[in-house]
Amino acid sequence: MDFKIAVIKGDGIGPEIVDEALKTLNVIGKKFGHHFTYTEVLMGGCAIDKTGVPLPDETVKICKESDSVLLGAVGGPKWDTLPGHLRPEKGLLGIRSALGLYANLRPATLYAPLKDACMLKPETVQDGLDILIVRELTGGIYFGERGRSQGKNGEEAYDTERYSVKEIERIARVAFKAARARKGKLASVDKANVLESSRLWREVIHRLANEYPDVECRDILVDNAAMQLVRDPAQFDVLLTSNMFGDILSDEASMITGSIGMLPSASLGEGRLGLYEPTHGSAPDIAGQGKANPIATIISAGMMLRYAFDLQKEANAIDEAVLSVLKKGFRTPDIAGVGGESKLLSTVEMGEAVRAEL
Ligand code: IPM
Ligand code: MG
Repeated sequence: MDFKIAVIKGDGIGPEIVDEALKTLNVIGKKFGHHFTYTEVLMGGCAIDKTGVPLPDETVKICKESDSVLLGAVGGPKWDTLPGHLRPEKGLLGIRSALGLYANLRPATLYAPLKDACMLKPETVQDGLDILIVRELTGGIYFGERGRSQGKNGEEAYDTERYSVKEIERIARVAFKAARARKGKLASVDKANVLESSRLWREVIHRLANEYPDVECRDILVDNAAMQLVRDPAQFDVLLTSNMFGDILSDEASMITGSIGMLPSASLGEGRLGLYEPTHGSAPDIAGQGKANPIATIISAGMMLRYAFDLQKEANAIDEAVLSVLKKGFRTPDIAGVGGESKLLSTVEMGEAVRAEL
């Protein structure tokens, strides 16, 4: 089959890691008889440099016309002092919103060969770790009204957390269905002891829970969730969060797995069009040095095959290739020395090692 993929390489290590994912997709295409065409588009700092804005209209248009979007990462110190509406991150928020990608799936999985990379004591993670964070991505405080004003103590600034029943319902349904397909356990994260938006969130979750009697659903306050993630992460299956709580908890969960360089993500909307990207950022400090781990991006491409194109065999092939590369002791610097005898590889070499397994 033919698939059109819009490719946003972005900034920092983005281009290096995306290249490895594209070469890997090409091998999958050859092996399984598919044809992937890539259209490179600009977003983030490189878009600011070339066009003056972080998300050119052309980028949105091409993404909408594609079957799926693959993204590296955006941002870097060069653009950190620009005003909020011109920062590279605004491009990322803009594309999520423009494509209606309200559901962000962030799996945090501990790969057996990387068990030693986990920050927690072995007895704490003896049952392994396999959590899926379902994060609301186009609402809440990220998109609410914001501004500056003069108060009685001088300058003030505010951001607003606002959620509608409809927004909570649609993300909750994604989470309930995901839980149903996994271990059947859902923890809905909120701060209902303080925030009105969280109280509405909780009401909606309780109502929907009746429609999914096979899913064991509970509420958990966000501060407690942060604590439980390091105390006993195995208690979690699916964690459902608002935009900001998910941003914070997904970084925490990724660190428990040892390396953020291993974790993929998928952002989905109503249709098939989704955006697939590694959970990590653009790591400007190691850009261009061949030190970045391309695995998160390669697995993100695998998620694209699975969710966007319904190519299960092909997606499994990528997951298995990554696992066997790890079992052989191949490591990029972020996971070097983890799990006994290991061989240090560059970004390109790691990509090649994965492709050699396919
Ligand atoms: C993420 C990132 C983004 C977010 C930033 C770069 C805007 O941290 O995808 O987790 O906060 O959503
Ligand atoms: Mg984040």
